[in-house]
Amino acid sequence: METMTASRLASEGGSPAVTLPAPGWPVVEESDAALVAEVVRSGVWSWVGPREREFCQAYADFIGTRFCLGLANGTVTLQCALQAVGVVPGDEVIVPALTWVATAQAAMDIGANVVFADVDPVTLALDPASFAAAITPRTRAVIPVHLYGCMCDMDAILATARQHGVKVVEDVAHQHGSRWRGKGAGSLGDAGSFSFQQSKVLTSGEGGAVTCDDPEVYRTIFALKQVGWTPENPAVDAFGPLVKGNKYGHNYRLTEMQAALLLGGLKRLPEQTARREANAQRIAAALREVGSPLQVAPRDPRITTQAYYALTLTYDPAKAGVPRAKYLAALVAEGCAMGGTYEPVYRSPLLNLADATSPLPFRQNLPQDYATLRLPNTERAVTETAVTLSQKYLLGSDEYVGQLLAAIRKVDDNLGRLQA
Ligand SMILES: Cc1ncc(COP(=O)(O)O)c(C=O)c1O
Repeated sequence: METMTASRLASEGGSPAVTLPAPGWPVVEESDAALVAEVVRSGVWSWVGPREREFCQAYADFIGTRFCLGLANGTVTLQCALQAVGVVPGDEVIVPALTWVATAQAAMDIGANVVFADVDPVTLALDPASFAAAITPRTRAVIPVHLYGCMCDMDAILATARQHGVKVVEDVAHQHGSRWRGKGAGSLGDAGSFSFQQSKVLTSGEGGAVTCDDPEVYRTIFALKQVGWTPENPAVDAFGPLVKGNKYGHNYRLTEMQAALLLGGLKRLPEQTARREANAQRIAAALREVGSPLQVAPRDPRITTQAYYALTLTYDPAKAGVPRAKYLAALVAEGCAMGGTYEPVYRSPLLNLADATSPLPFRQNLPQDYATLRLPNTERAVTETAVTLSQKYLLGSDEYVGQLLAAIRKVDDNLGRLQA
């Protein structure tokens, strides 16, 4: 009887396969709270204070760039980075169709025209061939997004970009600490953009950073985030003394309390990434071995460290004989919280690009008709095949991950019932 309840799907009244609690996120230690309290008591809360400087230096070292700037979020980081590498209104910026809406919005908000390119059907990262095909004489920049748990093919993207004089701003909101041939994501192109929003693997609730090597790119981003103030000579001191320059600027600053939280998170990050990598590899091997219709996207051997905002998986509906939504619902009932992806940006209701009543940044001569655009790999991934498992589950213990695998195995063993 016990065995029958255990083998019956939870969606049909059986007991869920996962009984252990899911790992919590964000992870916080007493030392984080103590450092935030110390900052609060110090009375220095903003304006490129000592914690921000300490964090930016440590983060530049971690990513492998000369400079790092702290900003308010991972959207204004993209705006500033694009402007700093030379994007002006009317330029075209190539953006993968599958990403969070902010990647496209950042370009639109500075007056650029977004050209959407397709993604790889399995890794969900920008497809280098689609990127190359989208280049026109008006293309000024591309934003490769290292999405979920797979880096972009940076060899191919950088070669094409360099050949056509296209600037590369990496969107690394998902993969703080990924490395391509040993080089940090965010150090490979002309600038790297990071988000520290609450769900990200390095977080201060909100916040962002840009990494770069070029002092002029650094100086422009500094002015843009700091109402026009810039360090007098970044080559001597990246943070000061600050002087009023000749560049336009906003207030996109990070606070000292956020920087304090980031210092704590950065200390934990390498160990957390290693744990996620080990669990991802275990899940990949187990699903391969049993020939599940659900498979982890293969890891490119050129990736030397893979950070995970989520594990990227591919579902084969033909092999399972069950649509993805039904399979995922059964898994979720078992306590294995697999989900889908973002929507294609060109038809996301969050952008409302086709709604005439929606306030949109001024744009003209749009290079694509977003209302009718349908990029095949993006469409199929979003509606039928792509599956994700959020990063916090990859921090689970061996026993917890064993239960996740048992949940998948149980659903696979009951595919006949789901088909009926
Ligand atoms: C891929 C990607 N780019 C950019 C952003 C924007 O970051 P933020 O929310 O900090 O503005 C996000 C945030 O979720 C993201 O996932």
